[in-house]
Amino acid sequence: MDVPPIQITQAPPLNAGAAPFLAKAPPFWLPMRHFVAAAFSFWLFAAALVWGNSRLLGFSFDARWALGLTHLLTLGWVTMTIMGALIQLMVVVHGVPFAAPGRLAWAWALLTAGTAGFVGGLWAGWDRYWIAAALVFAGVLIYLQVFVESLIQGGKLDWTGRHVAVALAYLSLVILLGLLLAYDRERGILFHDPRGVLIAHIHLALVGWVSLMIVGASYRLVAMFSLSHIESKAPGLVALVLANVGLLGLALDSLLGSRRLLSAWACVLAAAYAAYAFQMNGIFRGRLRRIDPALAYTLLALLGGAVWAALGLGLAFGLVKDGAPQEIAYVLAALLGWATPFILGQIHKIVPFLVWLHVFSPKNWRPPLQIPRTQDLASEKAAWWEMGFLAAAAYSLIGGFLLESPALIRLGSWSLLVCATLYAGNTALTLSFLKRPWTPSKPRP
Ligand code: HEM
Repeated sequence: MDVPPIQITQAPPLNAGAAPFLAKAPPFWLPMRHFVAAAFSFWLFAAALVWGNSRLLGFSFDARWALGLTHLLTLGWVTMTIMGALIQLMVVVHGVPFAAPGRLAWAWALLTAGTAGFVGGLWAGWDRYWIAAALVFAGVLIYLQVFVESLIQGGKLDWTGRHVAVALAYLSLVILLGLLLAYDRERGILFHDPRGVLIAHIHLALVGWVSLMIVGASYRLVAMFSLSHIESKAPGLVALVLANVGLLGLALDSLLGSRRLLSAWACVLAAAYAAYAFQMNGIFRGRLRRIDPALAYTLLALLGGAVWAALGLGLAFGLVKDGAPQEIAYVLAALLGWATPFILGQIHKIVPFLVWLHVFSPKNWRPPLQIPRTQDLASEKAAWWEMGFLAAAAYSLIGGFLLESPALIRLGSWSLLVCATLYAGNTALTLSFLKRPWTPSKPRP
């Protein structure tokens, strides 16, 4: 069902000026620079994968190349986008007037420079790449400080806020373990079982930080974009409890124990995912909107999450061969199968909304006139194509690494590059509205 362009037939109240939301909102450039840097990292990741995918299999396996690629995706794309979205979400969800743009600009600069130095250092063969990783650590500490202050200022935490708070706590552990691991790669004095620490770092990152953030955001954003409302939160509560039990069990077992219970923790985590999927099923069934690209991306993400959980069970029970390519398939299922479709779906709404808010806000309305809708600021057709290429990329890459097939990996890498290029083009199209001259037109009769 298509909604006609917004028509303004009555003057806004005198003091409306910009939408009231704008008074509390962060400056436009603050979230937006995160989204632009993230789009660039996503594109660079896809291009680097096309160029160097032969370094990820067999005798030519290059651990530094793989590690650099992983962190270009996890820090440059996933974490960078989440930080930008959180800056916006804090105002929308908690209604807290936005504070500390200066500190957040520093945090962005440190995260950007640190990620570039960390990945570049790994690829250039520096031994002390952990020095650049320390910049990431410092940047993330600033984000954590500002977000925690905002959560405290917002008072009682709602459903999404609780997920955000828990995810931020896990992020602090992720960056601490990551920095110690990087330092220990050079010195070899901190950990007697680096493999256990690596398993803890990976799961605290992918489950604790990325997934809990996505889960919390999905309850709010998917319900809002689909015009659905949550009848019962019981499955979501079960998912939250099980995810924390499974994750803490797995992390402690990996850090301190013998890793004998890994398959039990994998079952608990898979059960958490099933409960979450049940909750999302309720939201989708109650929706009043047609399936647009944003909701279709969310469905693709839900499928990716199920594939990731199945691979986790397969690895834990020895049904999937436990080799480096299969571990890459597991990490890619989380990052390209689950996190990326969810992120793209929401960002396709958030970026046009931000531009709309700042360009077409009610400040200069002189009714009657007709202004574009947020969905007019991006190409829906390109968004559908992006999604097709992303699905092809994710499943060719996951299959390619599982089966150790260079042809499938090449196909997946090229598909991802097409997806990332279309996404960058669509973002540029939306941003072009900042510069386009706009004259309000009269409403159609
Ligand atoms: C300060 C930030 C970080 C640093 C310094 C860091 C460092 C590291 C290091 C040194 C390893 C390899 C350890 C080894 O092989 O012994 C690693 C692996 C990994 N990290 Fe991080 N990390 C950071 C943040 C993150 C974040 C935020 C995520 C996810 C959102 C993440 C996801 C991963 C994954 C998935 C692996 C496994 C890579 C693979 O098997 O190829 N890391 N990290």
